Amino acid sequence: MRTEEPRAIHLADYRAPEFRITTVHLDFSLEPEATHVTAKLQIERLSGSGPLTLMGENQKLLGVALDGRALSPGDYHLDDKSLTLTDPPSKLTLEISSQINPAANTELEGLFLSNGMFCTQCEPEGFRRITYFLDRPDNLSVFTVRIEASKEQYPVLLSNGNRVGGGDLPPDENGNGRHYVAWHDPFPKPSYLFALVAGDLGSIHGDFTTMRGRPIALDIYVEHGNEPRARYALDALKRAMAWDERAYGREYDLDIFMIVAVSAFNMGAMENKGLNIFNDKVLLATPETATDDDYARIESVVAHEYFHNWTGNRITCRDWFQLSLKEGLTVFRDQNFSGDERSHAVQRIQDVRALRARQFVEDAGPLAHPVQPQSYIEINNFYTATIYEKGAQVIGMLKTLVGDEGYRKGTDLYFDRHDGHAATVEDWVKCFEDACGRDLSQFRLWYRQAGTPVIEARGTYDADARTYTLELTQSLAPTADQPEKKPMHIPVRIGLMGKDGSALPLTLDGENRAGPDSRVLEVTQKFQRFVFVDVAQEPLLSLGRDFSAPAIFRNPLSLHQRAVLMGKDSDAFNRWEAGQTLAAEIMLDGTSHTDYIAAIGEVLARAEEDPAFAAQMLMPPTESELAAKKTPVDPPRINGARLALVRAIALAHQDRLAWLYEQMRDAGDYSPDARSAGRRALRNACLRYLTAADDEAAAGLADAHYRTATNMTDMIAGLAALTRMESPLRDSAFTHFHDRFRSDPLVLDKWMSLQAGSPLPETVTAVRGLMKHPAFDLKNPNRVRALIGAFGANHLRFHNGDGSGYRLVGEVIRALDGVNPQVAARMAGAFESWRRYDQDRQAQMRAELVAIRDLPGISPNLFEVAGKMLN
Ligand code: PHE
Ligand code: ZN
Repeated sequence: MRTEEPRAIHLADYRAPEFRITTVHLDFSLEPEATHVTAKLQIERLSGSGPLTLMGENQKLLGVALDGRALSPGDYHLDDKSLTLTDPPSKLTLEISSQINPAANTELEGLFLSNGMFCTQCEPEGFRRITYFLDRPDNLSVFTVRIEASKEQYPVLLSNGNRVGGGDLPPDENGNGRHYVAWHDPFPKPSYLFALVAGDLGSIHGDFTTMRGRPIALDIYVEHGNEPRARYALDALKRAMAWDERAYGREYDLDIFMIVAVSAFNMGAMENKGLNIFNDKVLLATPETATDDDYARIESVVAHEYFHNWTGNRITCRDWFQLSLKEGLTVFRDQNFSGDERSHAVQRIQDVRALRARQFVEDAGPLAHPVQPQSYIEINNFYTATIYEKGAQVIGMLKTLVGDEGYRKGTDLYFDRHDGHAATVEDWVKCFEDACGRDLSQFRLWYRQAGTPVIEARGTYDADARTYTLELTQSLAPTADQPEKKPMHIPVRIGLMGKDGSALPLTLDGENRAGPDSRVLEVTQKFQRFVFVDVAQEPLLSLGRDFSAPAIFRNPLSLHQRAVLMGKDSDAFNRWEAGQTLAAEIMLDGTSHTDYIAAIGEVLARAEEDPAFAAQMLMPPTESELAAKKTPVDPPRINGARLALVRAIALAHQDRLAWLYEQMRDAGDYSPDARSAGRRALRNACLRYLTAADDEAAAGLADAHYRTATNMTDMIAGLAALTRMESPLRDSAFTHFHDRFRSDPLVLDKWMSLQAGSPLPETVTAVRGLMKHPAFDLKNPNRVRALIGAFGANHLRFHNGDGSGYRLVGEVIRALDGVNPQVAARMAGAFESWRRYDQDRQAQMRAELVAIRDLPGISPNLFEVAGKMLN
């Protein structure tokens, strides 16, 4: 059993630091198993008279010197988490030497080895595994770094900022050449933005000229042989740099911007100042190895990390409770960038889809927390969909409320006022109050209240008075941490539609001019009534246009009315939304599919106008999306209902689907641009329907699709169809794919994911088999996510009635916790909705969670997540 309960950290306990480390000189002598680190810190007291406590873990302290004088162990206090000087002078220089073992670092926090190269991950609290430090984001220091290593094994030595020196050193005792490189970053930064990379790496180079004419060198480092796969990321980087100048007036500040791709990484990527480190999965792409979705993801993550240079680095977070200040804002920025580069409607749909799949689920379950949490045990558990995705939606609402111009004024003020500082969510909101003269006190509740608000609409038309009265009710269910909720400030965008699909002007009672076709209603009370005048005919309400708030909108319409909106709403998002709601009603309530199938016919008829959008319209809600809508969830029923709907669509529209499938065939070279990707998406959506029967003919078509594919997107589409089918063609195609990509782990990940996502009954056994495949590796998070993460997302098979899916994932989580607790805790998310299922499944999932929570020597990460789920 555990001896020590992990302690929670509370926002209310925040205290400004009593000391500041103004400058740091770091000296690294790199060896895989025994790296020496010397940190020379200039420290000054800011306030108080308390001791100086530096955080430090997982290292062997070799020596401490105060103002040049070596200290003896009696002069300081050392434990496994910190180093304390009880009575330090108010200005001091501290020199600390320690030894660390990067080769043994499987948690991938601090300094570790990824496929033989050294790299770091310091956010949020990894720096303390490198040296003793004030490892908190409100301590900003100027870093100078000297890295020394074997010249042959680690010819490339990188850190933040500008290269300020380097050269050869005398060989070591075995006669191996050594060298060093020195880096200096003039921008004060918190330790979580420190980075170091050392390895034998290839690179590609580009350049960018800023809006004020400054030339910037752009370098991307990859493992040798992967250079061509970094080209697209470089292109995306330049576009992101230009976009941030246009959209936010933000220029890059150093002379050099570097990105490194590594294969073992806990997250997507990291915004270290001037030296972003990327999971290779979100950086490397060629048409033969990456899908259109991969390209889009790479573009957005490259932009995201680049955008952090201002929203995160120049202005950082005071403490980790402010995490959404940088993450929500930066996601909002990358979503807008992708929308501008590609399609706003498609981007919005995908963002909302992701929000609902992860954030709504989080908000509805035991891990619900506000965008600004009040407490945590392990901060690594709070890099959540709520912080990122909901945080981004909150910024979007703010922009809706203050308008485009107001938003720019607010962000200009924010950059002006807080540049070079560690800020809070409150600082951010205040900038908008000051710049736009608005009272946002109620709006702040979006940061404080967990849960997804529900907005119910009721409209009544009075033909004689020609008025339309819209009543909106908002409600927010209690969450574990907050039994009482207050009404929120919610922007609700609406439109009214006439019979022929025309827009009816929205004129509020008391206005003397005809109103706009679409407008935002500011809902601030539990119940509010809006009266529209001069409404010429009984209107159809389009509610929550462009998804104007991260809320559940309830618009009581008939199946037929939804089908009308699906075909005619001028708001593209709500056309999609009407289709989704309609399809969900059919699948969950068993209502008639006639109107929906006819509306899908209209979508198909107009599909060529905007193939990417049509592809979205053609995809009914996934099984997981349906599971989030109604309890108790019945996985086989949901699977059956969805299959039935897909087959009904396929049958009704066979000819048109086949015609479009041919029409969308692309000759010529692959291009990852949004238009071409949209055509492939539409063609592959057609393939889904044309293979819906899952019979031999379907297998033949899927196989032909796979065999004739000239790019990864189409290959995967073929395999995704085959993975549903019991056919010899399935096995031969998967074998063929395996043999072709056997030496490419990132591509084999896709092969694993497809098999783990199969609805076939033997999937659990197949996944157990794949865990023994030589490419599978518990130490590499990408492999674990590709196989076990994908299986956890396989709604039908994870929820196998016999509990075999739960046992598999439970076992892996318990084994993984000893290797990489962060990833183990994330994997446990598979169980977060356990209370929504029937008694049997609940009992089985609960048993797994109990076994996880009671794991001897469990990490705080996993303990916090499993414990909260069981509470
Ligand atoms: N800050 C990273 C981002 O841009 C995410 C991250 C968090 C990466 C923690 C590694 C560790 O979103
Ligand atoms: Zn981020």
